[in-house]
Amino acid sequence: MTSKTYIVEHLDDELGPWSELEYITIAKESHEAGSKFCLSSVPPALELPAVLTAVPGFTADGSSVETLYAEDKARVCLLDPSATKELSPEDGEIFDVFLFGGILGDDPPRDRTSELRKKGFQGRRLGPIQMTTDTAVRVTRMIVQSKIPLDQISYIDNPELVVNKNESTEMPFRYVKGEDGQPIMPKGMVELIKRDSEKGFADLF
Ligand SMILES: C[S@@+](CC[C@H](N)C(=O)[O-])C[C@H]1O[C@@H](n2cnc3c(N)ncnc32)[C@H](O)[C@@H]1O
Repeated sequence: MTSKTYIVEHLDDELGPWSELEYITIAKESHEAGSKFCLSSVPPALELPAVLTAVPGFTADGSSVETLYAEDKARVCLLDPSATKELSPEDGEIFDVFLFGGILGDDPPRDRTSELRKKGFQGRRLGPIQMTTDTAVRVTRMIVQSKIPLDQISYIDNPELVVNKNESTEMPFRYVKGEDGQPIMPKGMVELIKRDSEKGFADLF
């Protein structure tokens, strides 16, 4: 497996608990795969959690990716839900840097990836369905490092999480199916979603 660099360009002013769990997972999995993870465009006032900055190989940069790779744009592949070409194992020979939008998924998708598309990087799609950012990085790694074609990866779409005996919530995203048959999510995410959903339900009464 050749080493790659995964960059998430942080596009929000804050870093909420969902993004924090996603970034920690991306950092750990990238390190385990012998690759680097960089969070770019980090606003100077944003203090990153120690549990994230402590992951070996993780780096944060205040500069945007277009500054970091100004002379080397051809090395960078933007993972773009609107790209016309799907990512393939061969792209691992063309690119060594893979760029993702640091945005939470939304339903319907608002296409905030367009902020990165404007910067002129080559784009590749991971199929027609919106993934969470950590899933998009996981799938990219499986394709370009483990050389598994996009259509041979097992997915779970729109999983239903049971919040309590009366309520469940549907996650409107595509996830990779784990060995246990469950969608792969960051550690702590199921509990966070349940807490947030219960808060949401509580607000209704
Ligand atoms: C949660 S998604 C955000 C999608 C979002 N609705 C938007 O406004 O673009 C975060 C990032 O994951 C990557 N991503 C997610 N699903 C993808 C797909 N099907 N194809 C390519 N990239 C994807 C993109 O880099 C995207 O910016």
